[in-house]
Amino acid sequence: MKIGIIGAGNIGANAAKLFIEAGHDVAIANSRGAETLKDLVSELGEKARAVSVEDAAKFGEVVFVSIPFGKYTSLPAEGFEGKIVIDSNNYYPGRDGNYLELDAGKTTSSELLGNHLKGARIVKGFNTIWFEHLKTQGNKDLPLEARRVIFIAGDDSKAKETVAKLIEEIGFAAVDTGFLHEGGKLQQPDAPVYNKTLTAREAEAILEKE
Ligand SMILES: NC(=O)c1ccc[n+]([C@@H]2O[C@H](COP(=O)([O-])OP(=O)(O)OC[C@H]3O[C@@H](n4cnc5c(N)ncnc54)[C@H](OP(=O)(O)O)[C@@H]3O)[C@@H](O)[C@H]2O)c1
Repeated sequence: MKIGIIGAGNIGANAAKLFIEAGHDVAIANSRGAETLKDLVSELGEKARAVSVEDAAKFGEVVFVSIPFGKYTSLPAEGFEGKIVIDSNNYYPGRDGNYLELDAGKTTSSELLGNHLKGARIVKGFNTIWFEHLKTQGNKDLPLEARRVIFIAGDDSKAKETVAKLIEEIGFAAVDTGFLHEGGKLQQPDAPVYNKTLTAREAEAILEKE
């Protein structure tokens, strides 16, 4: 599969490595331009290329967005129509500034991203896993229920299926927390599962109590 990655930091660069190891092609972008990603791309190998943000969106059947949430309106609103967009961004007011509608619980950061990226099929995912764990805790030899969980949420069930498969291919197990509005809240920084090292089985048990 062709995967565009926007954001080449802790999460974006490590996700790129894992997707490439699983056999996918990656086009990766940051805010400063493709020439600043030369070293990363040479480390990632021939299945990776450095591109502009616009070209990462164009390239990917799936586009993985992993930037500081507060920068989301700097992404182009066009160019994501019909694309599955994985949103790993978390809202941290200290870093991102205050968004009153988020502070009041009226919406979620993923819904705001979805409103901005016209026609994107948003799947919130990879939000609760620390990048060092993303690097090391995938294990394809384990049965799904015993693998480290990566949560997903979204309103498009086909898009969620595609993302769940990608998660399994990199050695994790996807657990669906529901629609973007309610399910997205279950993955936010104040949620009980946030930044917890959980297997899929343990995650399901916690969510059942929610
Ligand atoms: N760190 C974690 O363990 C973790 C875990 C789960 C979720 N998250 C969330 O995932 C997101 C990324 O986290 P991170 O730790 O990977 O951040 P990071 O290491 O600071 O990397 C951020 C990346 O986003 C790029 N970027 C910033 N503004 C951009 C823009 N307007 N357009 C395109 N690219 C832009 C940066 O590129 P430049 O260098 O060119 O600015 C950089 O490559 C955040 O929302 C974070 O809260 C992080």
